[in-house]
Amino acid sequence: MPPLIAVRDLRKRFNLEAGFFAPLGKYVYAVNGLSFHIGEDESYGLVGESGCGKTTAARLLVRMYEPSDGEIRWRDRDVAALKRKDLAAYRERVKYVFQDPARSLNPRMRVYDILTSGRRWSARRGRRRRAEEWRAAAAILREVGLSPEDLERRPGEFSGGQRQRISIARGLFMEPELLICDEIVSALDVSIQAQILNLLLEIRRRRNLSFLFITHDLRVASWFCDRIGVMYRGELMEEAPAADLYKTAAHPYTQLLFDSAGSRRHTPIPGEVKTALEEIQGCAFAERCPRTEERCRREKPEFQETGQRRVRCFKVS
Ligand SMILES: Nc1ncnc2c1ncn2[C@@H]1O[C@H](COP(=O)(O)OP(=O)(O)OP(=O)(O)O)[C@@H](O)[C@H]1O
Ligand code: SF4
Ligand SMILES: [Mg+2]
Repeated sequence: MPPLIAVRDLRKRFNLEAGFFAPLGKYVYAVNGLSFHIGEDESYGLVGESGCGKTTAARLLVRMYEPSDGEIRWRDRDVAALKRKDLAAYRERVKYVFQDPARSLNPRMRVYDILTSGRRWSARRGRRRRAEEWRAAAAILREVGLSPEDLERRPGEFSGGQRQRISIARGLFMEPELLICDEIVSALDVSIQAQILNLLLEIRRRRNLSFLFITHDLRVASWFCDRIGVMYRGELMEEAPAADLYKTAAHPYTQLLFDSAGSRRHTPIPGEVKTALEEIQGCAFAERCPRTEERCRREKPEFQETGQRRVRCFKVS
């Protein structure tokens, strides 16, 4: 059986300075040849520092952006070829929960309307009766730890953690098969983060649902996910089952990510993710890698596969 979703050599470049006088302006290369898949009932973590292309990849999946190149397949269908009704149906099956609920929830709408706002676009929902709809919305709110009375309230009346619960409820309302969670706890206090992560775990156990779980925190991803892809400057550096990755990080970047998350002071990795303004030659991590050698700057390492792990580095065999 094909995986739920499979991404092959996905690329996205953003045109900067596009305009009449500069039709061939400069580009930002945000996603550069990304390939991975997510199976049924599987949680896949996409992990990397700020600016490495995680959100762009997720937005490509839901067609908020069109790819510059590459392919996304939903089961056996080409997502780029979906039109109108099929695209609307696809967007019901794949839901996106955003990082910042303060911005992604319309403050003027009641929670009920937020949960049900996809109705006009939905063939399946159109058939549901209003009373039924209200009951379904109440049940989802209970599932995320809120109460049915909250359906009448507006986002401003809730705390940050509660608002994120509403976003999750909105994501779940159409009973998707894939929930994309993009840094959904990073704007919250640490104690609240744990509550929301536990809620996600409960939802995972209760539903047959796949996750694309996006985070900069490799430890959280190792805890929540089945498999993890470590991303740097738009490419995967390493991919492995979470338990294997947690035991041994093979790629120098993965090792540094673990070290920085593990130290009590959260020592950041020296240097920063440089925006790619041209196609990256050689290893994407060469500028910051403690093990760089001349070849790394010249030549792009291919994936080395051992069992379920693949690593893009010349020094790992
Ligand atoms: N709409 C856009 N136009 C131009 N450049 C963009 C756009 N969106 C993202 N970028 C650039 O693409 C790169 C990847 O950004 P992206 O937001 O996907 O990273 P991220 O991994 O989600 O980071 P964060 O952890 O901060 O959310 C960055 O260099 C960013 O500046
Ligand atoms: S290929 Fe070279 S630069 Fe890239 S991670 Fe491996 S050692 Fe470091
Ligand atoms: Mg992001």
